[in-house]
Amino acid sequence: MRGVFVTGTGTEVGKTVVAAVIARSAAERGERVAVFKPAVSGLDDYPATGAGAGWERAGELPDQELLRLAAGSSQSDDEIAPHRYGPPVSPHLGAELAGEEIDPERLPFAAREAAAGAELLVCEGVGGFLVPLAPGYLVRDLARELALPVVIAAAPGLGTLNHTLLTLEAVRSAGLEAAVVVLTPWPARPGATELSNAETIAGLGEVRVERLPALELARPESWPELRVD
Ligand SMILES: Nc1ncnc2c1ncn2[C@@H]1O[C@H](COP(=O)(O)OP(=O)(O)O)[C@@H](O)[C@H]1O
Ligand SMILES: [Mg+2]
Repeated sequence: MRGVFVTGTGTEVGKTVVAAVIARSAAERGERVAVFKPAVSGLDDYPATGAGAGWERAGELPDQELLRLAAGSSQSDDEIAPHRYGPPVSPHLGAELAGEEIDPERLPFAAREAAAGAELLVCEGVGGFLVPLAPGYLVRDLARELALPVVIAAAPGLGTLNHTLLTLEAVRSAGLEAAVVVLTPWPARPGATELSNAETIAGLGEVRVERLPALELARPESWPELRVD
């Protein structure tokens, strides 16, 4: 299975945006792209969009909908994100509150099913790399089973060095390839901190670092290309 696993230094750091840009870049090159996310929570915070919301609402879509649009995919919500919860909580707690359990054995199958017929799978994690999907089963464990190169979304500013280097270490100690760190949103006028962070992460982390500017989400034609392989 060819693909990438997009993780991040935490929640709300730009994983979905980065995954969407990677998915759209491949789709623009003519590839059939599938997207997957083991669990989505916080759906209570989104206005009901109904099926088929278009790009004009890109800034307010839940993850599975933005990913589907960016990939140009016709996958259903269930195929993209088999576990979806209203409260903005960790997936294992979201499942508990919903009176269910996420079955860790099913997740790699669901990811492979999502990828069936596609040339590239873009999988977005949940929260950071060590977030539990089920008791005793972390995002890391799914990433390891899928064995895809890992993309790390991270903030460009103060605080990112520790978070990013910790995540890189966790990715590598899981035996996975850290393909690229994407600093997002990269400021139009970066200061000394951002410039130094990009260099320091590349140097200490021995990793490729990309800078993703603030995008107009509703204008995908303006997005830059982001290739992982
Ligand atoms: N490059 C970017 N351009 C525009 N908005 C961005 C960018 N990077 C992050 N954001 C914004 O930051 C917030 C968190 O991004 P998101 O991709 O949803 O994070 P995560 O998936 O890690 O929770 C969103 O409001 C998103 O639109
Ligand atoms: Mg997300």
